[in-house]
Amino acid sequence: MTPTSTIAIQCLGYTPIPVALLSCDEVPMVDLYRKDVETGRLRLYRAANVPMVPEDLERLVQSKVSWLYTPEVDQGEMQLYIRRKLDRLVNDNSLNVRERFGRLNEVVEGILGSAFEVDETDELMRSSAYVASMAVRLLCQNEMTAGDLISLLHHDYQTVTHSLNVAYMMVTLAREMRMVSDSELQSVAVAGILHDVGKLSVSERILNKSQRLQRREERIAQKHPAHGFRRLCERTDISYGQLMVVYQHHERMTGKGYPVGAVGEEIHPWARLCSVVNVFESLISNRPYRRRYPLTEAFQIMDGPLSAGLDREMYQCWKQHILKK
Ligand SMILES: [Fe+2]
Repeated sequence: MTPTSTIAIQCLGYTPIPVALLSCDEVPMVDLYRKDVETGRLRLYRAANVPMVPEDLERLVQSKVSWLYTPEVDQGEMQLYIRRKLDRLVNDNSLNVRERFGRLNEVVEGILGSAFEVDETDELMRSSAYVASMAVRLLCQNEMTAGDLISLLHHDYQTVTHSLNVAYMMVTLAREMRMVSDSELQSVAVAGILHDVGKLSVSERILNKSQRLQRREERIAQKHPAHGFRRLCERTDISYGQLMVVYQHHERMTGKGYPVGAVGEEIHPWARLCSVVNVFESLISNRPYRRRYPLTEAFQIMDGPLSAGLDREMYQCWKQHILKK
């Protein structure tokens, strides 16, 4: 299980705290800082001796402030608070696992949504680590079936929702195939969250177009794996497998994918894993130009010519896992 020290990643001597995890009745009495939008510097938001009231949290959410920061000296107390909040959310026995997942999904979608909106790679990496650790913790509680997962996901097509769904599904399939150790599942989840990060460099007009894309627009949209690769390739906090998910998730086993037409095992296993669930997730989600397909119809479509481009073993495993419910 992920240690708390990696859940709250330290940033220049400060610990970022997601506003979505704060509730004013129990915020520890520590100094809280917020980032100044213009200068990027941290400034005191609330001194330790000033109580927080519900309106404070509402104002932060309205101003799209998704992170506050605590100084090094208070990190221990804040990390304990975060662990308690997460544990409570994930292990709340008064709720069944479906309800817990529903609530967690709201929180993580909020965290991730703000990060995508801000379009700042550091913040995106930090949010992805948070979200991934929470997702893995919940998915590893074995009470939740694949059927539960599918029925609980939001199916409206937005990059954030899609990315989160793909991350959940990658973790589920990687576990089912025993592809990675439990400690690597969080990395797989982060890869899923980030796989379409290159879409931040593609205009929303193209991404949200309600008619089919023209050839020229399609070529622009298809650059998103390369944009994502360029955005992340020099970072030291991303692994080779994660980077390959970003770069190769539209490659196909037949060589008919993009960006370069890699073939078969030239495609990293994590990218092949992502391809399978990415195609599936797209089919069962509403798109600007069509309604979502029911599960059986989605698999009928995937069984057609699409299947040749997917890793056969992974696809079969995914199909069996979903249909067995
Ligand atoms: Fe993509």
